Amino acid sequence: MEYKIKNLKLKNRFLLAPMLEPNDIAFRLLCKKAGCGLTWTGMVSPLSKQKMDLDDKPAVQLFGNSARGIKSFIKKYDKDVSLWDFNLGCPSKLSRRLSYGAFMHSDFEMIEEILKTMREATKKPISIKLRKSGQAIEIAKLAEKYVDAIGIHARTIEQGYSGDVDYDFALKLKVAVGIPVIYSSVPKGIPSQIQGKDKLGQTLPSAQMASAGADKVGNVNVGKYRKILKDFNFVFVGREAIGNPNIFSKLSGSELRVGFKDYLKLAKKYKLFFRQIKYQAMNFTKGLEDAKNLRKRLVEAKSVGDIERVMGKK
Ligand SMILES: Cc1cc2nc3c(=O)[nH]c(=O)nc-3n(C[C@H](O)[C@H](O)[C@H](O)COP(=O)(O)O)c2cc1C
Repeated sequence: MEYKIKNLKLKNRFLLAPMLEPNDIAFRLLCKKAGCGLTWTGMVSPLSKQKMDLDDKPAVQLFGNSARGIKSFIKKYDKDVSLWDFNLGCPSKLSRRLSYGAFMHSDFEMIEEILKTMREATKKPISIKLRKSGQAIEIAKLAEKYVDAIGIHARTIEQGYSGDVDYDFALKLKVAVGIPVIYSSVPKGIPSQIQGKDKLGQTLPSAQMASAGADKVGNVNVGKYRKILKDFNFVFVGREAIGNPNIFSKLSGSELRVGFKDYLKLAKKYKLFFRQIKYQAMNFTKGLEDAKNLRKRLVEAKSVGDIERVMGKK
């Protein structure tokens, strides 16, 4: 089966969610190797002068409160990028202060100017990533003129990253637009709104329901993701992927497994900072039997060699 966003062909529908700290080039390459359909960078300013490593040919997410710098930034990196995304979801205090991300929702004019600028700068697919708000669905409709997919994280600014994700809101957005929708934040359990219902609101046979909840590979509830994909075109894998790129092999049914030693090899190749390598080592201890002890020793690590000794063959 082939999946597409505009002319971009994807081998599956499991996408790495944009995440600023975890999604360095080494981590993204591992996710891709494990089977991720498309990797995403965290948000980057088009005014940033920092060189980007894009060997995974990712989706690059831009943020900002004006169109300044967008054209030249896109031109600079366009050939190494699969898709350009624009952040309309960040709920941080800094975003509030500078009117970025989810704090731009009432400025339709600026949103349109930015998307128009992006559209004129590239033939690559474009998407936006929205957060739940009173204007989000209207923005999605406005954006359809310029973009090829919409990402939705159905939590409000006030909720941040916790509390119930509003699955019904995401469904409302899905039916309001005619382009692919990427769902973000798969609830821990199957949300009550979709429990026992398919996208037409019909009750599912109980055997099908049981498999939706029980279909586990390792610690990944694959059935939960498949259920979301009955309603949406693609799904973002966010926090569940942190320190766990193998989630993509489990979701895509591949036998391949990657580990921290693979991360380290790539991190050295790309000369990532010690601080970043230590942060990822901490992430990779997630779910390990001796995680607590490993973390304690990682806190003490003063060099990449120290980290290597602590993590051993993991
Ligand atoms: C550490 C971290 C960094 C994030 N950075 C970004 C970002 O740069 N841009 C963005 O659109 N969303 C960002 N997000 C939000 C995620 O893309 C995602 O929408 C959110 O975590 C909910 O999905 P999840 O429950 O699968 O984690 C970030 C989330 C986390 C946990």
